[in-house]
Amino acid sequence: MPPGSIDLSKPTTVVRGIHRVPGDKSITHRALMMASLARGRSEIRGALTSDDARSSARVLRQLGSAITPLRPGALVAVTGRGALRASAALLDCGNSGTTARLLLGTVAAHRFESTLTGDRSLRRRPMRRVTDPLVAMGARVVQAGAETLPLTIAGGSLHALHWTLPVASAQVKSAILLAGAVAGVEVTLDQPAASRDHTERMLRHFGYSVQEHASRVILRPGGAFVPFVLDVPGDPSSAIFLAAAAALASRGEIAIEAVGLNPSRIAFIDIMNRMNIRIHVEEMLDAAGEPVGTIVAAASDLVATDIRAAETPGVIDEIPMLACLASRARGTSRLAGLAELRVKESDRLALVANNLRNVGVEAAVDGDDLIVAGTDVPPVGRVVTHGDHRIAMAFAVLGTLPGARVTIDDRACASVSFPGFDAALAALFGGPR
Ligand code: S3P
Repeated sequence: MPPGSIDLSKPTTVVRGIHRVPGDKSITHRALMMASLARGRSEIRGALTSDDARSSARVLRQLGSAITPLRPGALVAVTGRGALRASAALLDCGNSGTTARLLLGTVAAHRFESTLTGDRSLRRRPMRRVTDPLVAMGARVVQAGAETLPLTIAGGSLHALHWTLPVASAQVKSAILLAGAVAGVEVTLDQPAASRDHTERMLRHFGYSVQEHASRVILRPGGAFVPFVLDVPGDPSSAIFLAAAAALASRGEIAIEAVGLNPSRIAFIDIMNRMNIRIHVEEMLDAAGEPVGTIVAAASDLVATDIRAAETPGVIDEIPMLACLASRARGTSRLAGLAELRVKESDRLALVANNLRNVGVEAAVDGDDLIVAGTDVPPVGRVVTHGDHRIAMAFAVLGTLPGARVTIDDRACASVSFPGFDAALAALFGGPR
């Protein structure tokens, strides 16, 4: 076939247009929490209005904060009381690990008891990584040694802490930093690897000194939570699904604008470049301490790549999509050091491997690594999500390939982080698919 011509014997998919994704999940949780700690009215524009964000809003209302309903497109007004108030009722964090862990840190610095729980998925996720350092700061966990929710924490007057995090986790790091900031005590954290730094950036905005040297983070007291106005950028962890769909298309290019481009969140772009995917960022500007810009992604011929264990913390939420992309690449990819994926909303390591096999891809778990063999046979089969939003979305993207027949047991769970996902995906192709 002459170069540049299109083989009409095969169905083709074409992507185009300028798109947006909902607000960043990590920033939305943190903004709701920090606004609740301030005295007075804060305004959050572009907040994520997903199930997870609603879980944070719900428990913060129970703790005395007034928060307007989280509706797409609507400004969220938060009227905090300068501190949280005790709630006798159970604080149900739903499916949201970020809500549970950041809240544990925040209530640890308040002199009352709180009982946190969550849905079936959240109740199996590890919590001692958060409660151990909080107990070391002086909080009391009523079920000492409890690994999982539900658990009751009695906050108090906390003291300074020097702690080594057992895993690279922004949730754990943020919980301890919030406890230190609210209590007004110094915190020094040594982490095995850096993780997303939104909490540090926001705490600096409130006048706290947060220094990072190599993998050490030091928080010094001195700041105060005051009301603020914030524009939440689009979530890069949602943008990857649209960018991946563009990469897998036969032709075309898309732009995703107003996306957060914090360096601790966009390591997936380098990895996709290594896979020969045409993706880059444009027009970066600084918005309230976070870089924001446009991601441009185009139809590409994918090649396999290895993801090193040291890279994994930077793409922790993007692994399901990257693994699905690897299944369409020339060659075999090894994604290393994925132990943390076992304790996400589902056992994502097992689920990604099983579902790749369910749709006809050769995939295997080797210790903490995932090995994926690329193929150009269209994916056909049934995907079991266990209610995990990122599994549902990654495989829905594979389902856009010409000739694909992918059924997903629970597509609706995408709303945990990406309300309107199906319509956003369809919009890339100019209409419903
Ligand atoms: C998050 C941190 C990550 C990530 C989650 C959001 C955050 O979790 O997977 O979706 O907002 O801090 P870990 O800190 O457990 O890795």
